[in-house]
Amino acid sequence: MITAVCLNPAIDRTVSVAALVPGGLNRVTASRSDAGGKGVNVAVTLARLGEEAACVAFLPRENGRLVEEKLRAEGVEGAGVALDGAIRTNLKVLDESKREITEINESGAPVSEAQLADMAALIERYAEKSDCLVLSGSLPPGCPASYYRDIMERIAPLPCRVVLDADAARLREGLKAKPFLIKPNRHELTELTGQPLDTLADIAKAARALVEDGVGLAAVSMGGEGALIVSREGALFAPRMEVTPRSTVGAGDAMIAGLVAGLHRGLPLKDTFCLGVACASASVMSEGTGLIDRATVDALLPRVQILPVT
Ligand SMILES: Nc1ncnc2c1ncn2[C@@H]1O[C@H](COP(=O)(O)OP(=O)(O)OP(=O)(O)O)[C@@H](O)[C@H]1O
Ligand SMILES: [Mg+2]
Repeated sequence: MITAVCLNPAIDRTVSVAALVPGGLNRVTASRSDAGGKGVNVAVTLARLGEEAACVAFLPRENGRLVEEKLRAEGVEGAGVALDGAIRTNLKVLDESKREITEINESGAPVSEAQLADMAALIERYAEKSDCLVLSGSLPPGCPASYYRDIMERIAPLPCRVVLDADAARLREGLKAKPFLIKPNRHELTELTGQPLDTLADIAKAARALVEDGVGLAAVSMGGEGALIVSREGALFAPRMEVTPRSTVGAGDAMIAGLVAGLHRGLPLKDTFCLGVACASASVMSEGTGLIDRATVDALLPRVQILPVT
């Protein structure tokens, strides 16, 4: 089983406007709401790929059932720690004239030390029965930036592999516990290294340094410029696939689900990377937070191009 952790669930509300006017009245032409958060999206995508998936989440009492209902509907085993308050809303405003998304994210319901301790114990229980644990997304108010690292250190004796998708201090701290796989996007990697990463060679060098420091695999997503993966054996680059972008939100989460599914199936690195790229590209083609269907992924797979990076 693969377990994804969602500590800061969200309702992703996407609204479309013809052309966004800051400071003016904007009329919504279409809208949709997806209950989720990164961990939920990873778990649901894994289930859609045919993997046995679970999701452990903080569940605010007011509307946490929206997440539980979604997990149930997708065949994902759900478990949670209850919180006071409501799930935060992440508003995505799609400017149709520019095909550009402006994101306005709430921080979420605060958590107490007791709730964090309950959550850590729950995650450990799931890690005991999982081959892989995915820690992804932001942390709720009250949760220290070292929380992902603390979890990794706590479950280090278990055979469960850990995937970390986090940014800034959460990523920097988490790296100290040497996750098996990380997938920063270009911005997150730049922030981590503190250096401008202008070329593919710069990005590959930064990713190699992380692998030398003990990360098993470093995948770097570069939005519309493709993606890179580095292991001890070498580096591979996948140029952007020619797909019609509808919403790039969640493309990174889909890539993680594809990579994790490939690793879980024991595929060679190249095929694992192909699956990650096909999932990300399928996600870009779909509206909203980009949950994918398996048929689209299967159709894209033979078209993924993988090139060695020297
Ligand atoms: N415009 C695009 N056209 C084609 N493919 C894209 C495009 N944007 C993203 N992708 C694919 O999706 C992958 C992940 O995208 P990106 O780097 O934006 O992830 P991210 O910033 O982690 O996203 P999120 O955190 O919202 O899930 C890219 O490496 C690429 O394969
Ligand atoms: Mg991301």
